[in-house]
Amino acid sequence: MAVKSKEAKPEAAGGQSPHPAALRLHGVRKNYGHVVGVDGVDLTVDEGEFFTLLGPSGSGKTTLLRLIAGFERPDAGRIELGGRDVTSMPPHLRETNTVFQDYALFPHMTVGENIGYGLRVKGVPAAERRERVERAVRMVRLVGLDKRRPNQLSGGQRQRVALARAVVNEPEVLLLDEPLGALDLKLRQEMQLELKRIQKQVGITFIYVTHDQEEALTMSDRVAVMANGRIEQIGPPLELYERPATEFVAGFIGISNLLTRDGIKFVVRPEKLHILLEEDSPEPGMTVEPGVVEQVIYVGQSTRFNVRLDQGEPLVAVRQNTEAADEALQIGGRRIRLAWAPEHTYVLDQQQEPDAKPASVENTKEK
Ligand SMILES: Nc1ncnc2c1ncn2[C@@H]1O[C@H](COP(=O)(O)OP(=O)(O)OP(=O)(O)O)[C@@H](O)[C@H]1O
Ligand SMILES: [Mg+2]
Repeated sequence: MAVKSKEAKPEAAGGQSPHPAALRLHGVRKNYGHVVGVDGVDLTVDEGEFFTLLGPSGSGKTTLLRLIAGFERPDAGRIELGGRDVTSMPPHLRETNTVFQDYALFPHMTVGENIGYGLRVKGVPAAERRERVERAVRMVRLVGLDKRRPNQLSGGQRQRVALARAVVNEPEVLLLDEPLGALDLKLRQEMQLELKRIQKQVGITFIYVTHDQEEALTMSDRVAVMANGRIEQIGPPLELYERPATEFVAGFIGISNLLTRDGIKFVVRPEKLHILLEEDSPEPGMTVEPGVVEQVIYVGQSTRFNVRLDQGEPLVAVRQNTEAADEALQIGGRRIRLAWAPEHTYVLDQQQEPDAKPASVENTKEK
């Protein structure tokens, strides 16, 4: 599909911005009885951005997506798409399309008919429809399969049909709720790159929901980390990983080693820790603390060391197995020193004490 060619969009209220954001949320709130779904979210997503909502189960990701699509009405707040207030507009009048986890393909229609369905409903003439469906089929690499029915496809192929069916309508914003959840790891990783390629190619704004931090980091321009219906932090992947603002974010994205020294709480990531044996000396300027290697875990491309510092905290250090790992496996139980550069530590925002603890979300990756 070619890069979108759309007519000029309506100006934002007041006309101050010639390029309204693709999506803007102001104080959006949604409760289900006493249960908090979304708890006052402010958010701006730029046109053409790959934006991800990341958070543990129950953190409000799907609720937020359904509010954006119009399947739910917020209790408070405002939702703007392309500078237009759509808060009380029904889903079919919004310039969005949604890809759900279960794809919801029509079983009695062929791949081509599934993909062209939305265009047919809109009354797009047959010739144009055929051309657009063909382009979409090429884009998701399903050439030759367009006469098959969904039950004659693999899981990954069905996923591609669902994606093509949404993209072919050229929505302003495409909403995707854990669309790769049903796929095995290898196919999922392949589809992550594929989705990113397609998104760049069509230039549509993607709002993507996942509970998988690696998936979020791989695909996104920016990520919003959610907990308890609120956004904890928004930023590009590198910033979230390297400079987490709260304990929750530090614990949810990657392994977080938390330390408190002189009343200051900070994070140091496993790959920034150096393990020093008796004969090793630290590089100048490094902080050094003694401890014991309690466990050594070989994980193929890297080795993980669970260390207990003499001051009491458990820390995880990781080393890439660029050379033979046999030697590393021998240091279990030994006294060592851990060293890190002060510039590789990140002080956490002390005011923003999170309600959810990182320990409670550790299992969500295996969900
Ligand atoms: N229709 C509903 N009725 C009552 N409570 C609901 C409803 N939908 C969602 N909730 C609750 O709102 C909260 C947020 O749910 P939501 O589905 O948005 O979470 P999520 O982040 O998408 O989780 P998951 O990763 O498990 O899909 C949860 O506590 C959930 O139980
Ligand atoms: Mg969900």
